[in-house]
Amino acid sequence: MLGKKVTIIGGSGGLGRVFARIFKNNGFNVLLMARNEDRLKRVAQELGVNYQLDLKTSVKDADIVMISIPIKSTPKMIKNVAPYLKEDAILFDVASLKSLACKELEIACKKYPINCISLHPMFGPGIKKFKNYVIILLRIGGTVYFNLKVNVLMDLLKKEGFIITETTPEIHDKKIALTLGIPHMLNILFLYLLRKTSNSLSELTNYTGTTFLLQKVFAESIIQREMEMFGDIQMENPQFHKILDLFENVVKEYKKIIRGRDAEGFKRIFTEGLNYSKEDKHFEKSYDYFYQFMKILKE
Ligand SMILES: NC(=O)c1ccc[n+]([C@@H]2O[C@H](COP(=O)([O-])OP(=O)(O)OC[C@H]3O[C@@H](n4cnc5c(N)ncnc54)[C@H](OP(=O)(O)O)[C@@H]3O)[C@@H](O)[C@H]2O)c1
Repeated sequence: MLGKKVTIIGGSGGLGRVFARIFKNNGFNVLLMARNEDRLKRVAQELGVNYQLDLKTSVKDADIVMISIPIKSTPKMIKNVAPYLKEDAILFDVASLKSLACKELEIACKKYPINCISLHPMFGPGIKKFKNYVIILLRIGGTVYFNLKVNVLMDLLKKEGFIITETTPEIHDKKIALTLGIPHMLNILFLYLLRKTSNSLSELTNYTGTTFLLQKVFAESIIQREMEMFGDIQMENPQFHKILDLFENVVKEYKKIIRGRDAEGFKRIFTEGLNYSKEDKHFEKSYDYFYQFMKILKE
């Protein structure tokens, strides 16, 4: 039903490599495409797959084409590659923002007899095991085989352990502003704020118990990753711009409470946060988890 040939545009990149392994392990012939030949050749050799520099040649026989290139380049790549695909092929991107990419996919599947979906893997290239990691699916449209093919592909991913969350581009970008935009921003600002105080992190570690240490390691794991992508996730998503306005108001409200020694206001904010988090399924075990992470750090 799916065919056997997969081309990954951006296959020498972090996420391209993860998917190349998944497809290869499921018996597909994988072909990687990118622009820098040295890197592409090295990655293809590492993975034991083929590579191709010419876009048209790379996709013309493919049953599945995955686009795994930077967010801002993705819509244009969809437009460029769609005319070269063979009939009934599946085309999908993995960009972290969906509104613009999905518009191009909609155009592509109306213009050509191909099947378009959009995926957002909610993990980075560091992933080792896939169990219970989420992949967000957006069904765009295609030929009479569309749902059949998409369901088979999703079954393959579910068999690897992934959880598939299905949604629309609008809802996707709204939720991503919260689940990626906010934690990225807070961790970038955490380090930036400390930097502004001119204290070294190593020195501060001698004055820490638990919370700071864990927060520091978490922020450090974020700041050493893909700067361009993290910037795009915040700058290119109008939904995140709305969150920034809200954040500004929340900081103003907080500052007023703290400066005014407003114990009642502090209690209100604290309790609202507590009651909100009580609805979460991790809540009851969060404190235990915290000490499990600490155990790793202390050892
Ligand atoms: N990394 C994550 O944590 C993560 C998680 C979820 C989703 N995503 C999404 O996945 C996509 C890829 O992210 P990544 O982290 O894997 O990026 P990456 O490591 O920077 O890899 C990007 C790849 O795209 C290639 N490329 C860039 N522009 C190209 C073009 N115009 N034509 C052909 N190839 C091109 C690059 O190779 P050349 O420069 O040699 O062409 C490289 O192979 C992004 O849209 C990102 O939003 C990433």
